[in-house]
Amino acid sequence: MKTNDSLLAERNRHIPQGPFNVHPIFVEKAKGAIITDVEGKEYIDFAGGIGVNNIGHCDEEVLKAVQDQIQKYIHTCFHVVMYEPYVELAKRLNKITPGNFQKKTMLVNSGAEAVENAIKIARHATGRPGVIAFEDAFHGRTLLALSLTSKMKPYKFGFAPYAPEIYRMPYAYCYRCAFGLEYPSCEIHCAYFLREFFNTHISAEQVAALIVEPVLGEGGFVVPPKEYFKVLKKICEENGIIFIADEVQTGFGRTAKMFATEHYGVEPDITVMAKSMAGGFPLSAVTGRAELMDHPQVGGLGGTFAGNPVACRASLAVLDQFEKIDLLKKAEKIGKKVLSKFKEFQEDYTVVGDVRGLGAMVGMELVVDRETKEPATTFTKQLVNRCREKGLLMISAGTHSNIVRPLMPLVITDHQLERGLSIIEKSIAEISPTENL
Ligand SMILES: Cc1ncc(COP(=O)(O)O)c(C=O)c1O
Repeated sequence: MKTNDSLLAERNRHIPQGPFNVHPIFVEKAKGAIITDVEGKEYIDFAGGIGVNNIGHCDEEVLKAVQDQIQKYIHTCFHVVMYEPYVELAKRLNKITPGNFQKKTMLVNSGAEAVENAIKIARHATGRPGVIAFEDAFHGRTLLALSLTSKMKPYKFGFAPYAPEIYRMPYAYCYRCAFGLEYPSCEIHCAYFLREFFNTHISAEQVAALIVEPVLGEGGFVVPPKEYFKVLKKICEENGIIFIADEVQTGFGRTAKMFATEHYGVEPDITVMAKSMAGGFPLSAVTGRAELMDHPQVGGLGGTFAGNPVACRASLAVLDQFEKIDLLKKAEKIGKKVLSKFKEFQEDYTVVGDVRGLGAMVGMELVVDRETKEPATTFTKQLVNRCREKGLLMISAGTHSNIVRPLMPLVITDHQLERGLSIIEKSIAEISPTENL
């Protein structure tokens, strides 16, 4: 029998170190919110393949749709011979994404690829080069997406030169406000700062798009105040700038709405999606105002594998399941539970500096000292490892990797959720027994 250690040795011999691994285990099978490794050990999954498994591992309806599709055809390339699942999915996404206007959708394979296409479309439609992105943003690892990403190590370090014409402003990270202000007395200065940004970084007439995550994902589950995006969007509108919402991590129910911008009452010109949209199959989408999406010339957009029919069928099944089992309500319930538990942890352990969340996107920021807010990076790593030893798979986030970011499948049972949360608490207590308040 292959063991985790023997497979790890082979992995290290044949695969470079760059593609990172959080946990030194290999999966044998996965169902719902449980992953079983090759040695037969079961884990509760609080990582969801980095936010891809909102529907749960191996959902029965997704399996049925995929099995039906692979009997028919697997790939023709949409650009050579078209197929209905692509059209059907585009139609559904045009309907459910925020924005009361006519939309069109194109499909690609990954979050990064969707981000890049959104920028291409915005540049083509405006004839402008500039893109405004944010500090602590994550938009992917391909060169343009990487250039939009903020974190230097490990993502950007050594890979320069980056794509030009990208300008970065602070995000609404209230716990660590870049302007040293406090909400609400700040009056959302960080959003109005965009007007000043046009004087100091790039003039508005040169900006094609502003791309923003409605809640920071990799950046640490940072939830902006409710007025934030309305202000940004208004300033974009005043200046003919396309507002792109990167819903790759927030989308498909994570925040207890299908898309996180719905919480904020803004209608993005373009919405970018990936991760949980196809139950684990690689698929991403760019949905936007029809006139923008139609701007690039025939052949200007696409890709050989883009919008694979098996992935499209999986995605259609995911959308059906969202309706059938009301995953948005489940996300809300999960979010309430996690938020209240994390707040309890904050009362009991000094290492928990901040707790914040939107729906089931709830983060816990760990600090060495509540006054200085020094990030507890080592502690967070120890916590992730200790949780694994106790049967819970987690990942961290944040520019300093000091934020616990649960991305459990939304089909997780109450018992599994309780058990996972109690493993987190026990692990915090064990690593910092003297720190208890
Ligand atoms: C908000 C956001 N955008 C883009 C990406 C890139 O997606 P992918 O890894 O599928 O390229 C990610 C991935 O974590 C993400 O969280």
